[in-house]
Amino acid sequence: MQVDIPLKKVIDNSYSITIDMLPQIHFDHKVAIITNPKVAGLHLGYLLSKISAKELYIITVADGEEYKNQQSIDTILESLFNHRFNRKSLLIAFGGGVIGDMSGYAASIYQRGIDFIQIPTTLLSQVDASVGGKTGMNNQYGKNLIGAFHQPKAVYIDPHFLTTLPSREFAAGVAEIVKMAVTFNKEFFEFLESADLKNPKILQEAIKQAVQTKADVVSKDEKEHGLRAALNYGHTFGHVIENETQYKKFLHGEAVAIGMIMANETAVKMNLMSENEANRIQALLQKYDLPTTYLIKNTHTFYETFFLDKKSSDSSITFIIPVGIGDVRIADTIDKNTIMHVLNKFKES
Ligand code: NAD
Ligand code: GLY
Repeated sequence: MQVDIPLKKVIDNSYSITIDMLPQIHFDHKVAIITNPKVAGLHLGYLLSKISAKELYIITVADGEEYKNQQSIDTILESLFNHRFNRKSLLIAFGGGVIGDMSGYAASIYQRGIDFIQIPTTLLSQVDASVGGKTGMNNQYGKNLIGAFHQPKAVYIDPHFLTTLPSREFAAGVAEIVKMAVTFNKEFFEFLESADLKNPKILQEAIKQAVQTKADVVSKDEKEHGLRAALNYGHTFGHVIENETQYKKFLHGEAVAIGMIMANETAVKMNLMSENEANRIQALLQKYDLPTTYLIKNTHTFYETFFLDKKSSDSSITFIIPVGIGDVRIADTIDKNTIMHVLNKFKES
């Protein structure tokens, strides 16, 4: 005996990303703004001058990657239950990528899924984390190991928020912009080489191009069955660096910057990138004071740590290797000698 459940259907999860000053928006449902004390202190007044709702609540969780955990999710869910949110209610993620990932995850599980929108306030979250529907939290086994794909209903990117961003956080966002350009868009890379992202008009154009690049990738491969993995350029090496330095020494974008340099070395070794192209990428990162070097104490331990990454399958490690500037290869069969050759170039003498 067999009972079939025909579930084949086309679901339209399309949404728009607005890159401009926040418009006035009114919601006819219950809305909760999820934020942290720092972002609220700096920008909640501005947000409340733009957003209104039938009932509007503010939920704050502690600031920091170390609070991207179950306890913060529970804080959010409890508040939603206390305020009797229902399936028509909406969450607004108002903060950097940490708030965005947690708000999206809470939205994905509350009563089996409610809507949320993203109002990202860091450069990294504006160009990357708020777009594409990856949501989640960390646990004792690692970063982002629990989560769901849950697309926001809309993303509002208001560059005004960036005026209060510390310069290191700004640069960390630039690293993700460079990532999009190197992997998918040579013209965009050349634009960045001659651009000054401290100029608000130029920055807005760069945000638009980075978001367009990511949107194109996500629309082709929403759940990372292939192409989307290319957005992890710099991350395979970067995650090991973050892990070795206990997430304390480098911001995520800074570790990704060093990771991109290591991926470039691999590409040069494999004759997929010229020395000159690698130098141009390094110069662009250095223009924004991003770190581009790291001293590896033990290359064997560094190599073994690759296998802790959730993107590694049981026996192989997926490396994202740029092919020149503007193209990329997702490689899970690079031999250990090639990688060790690269790691030895960064070895502490
Ligand atoms: P973050 O959210 O921790 O923000 C960095 C710091 O800046 C925090 O202290 C925050 O309170 C503060 N801040 C936020 N907006 C500010 C503003 N306008 N002015 C001054 N300070 C401000 O870090 P992040 O770099 O935005 O995001 C990193 C997180 O994003 C990581 O958890 C990472 O896993 C996640 N991420 C997710 C995706 C995705 O596709 N979902 C992609 C990339 C990164
Ligand atoms: N930040 C990588 C991705 O969204 O897929």
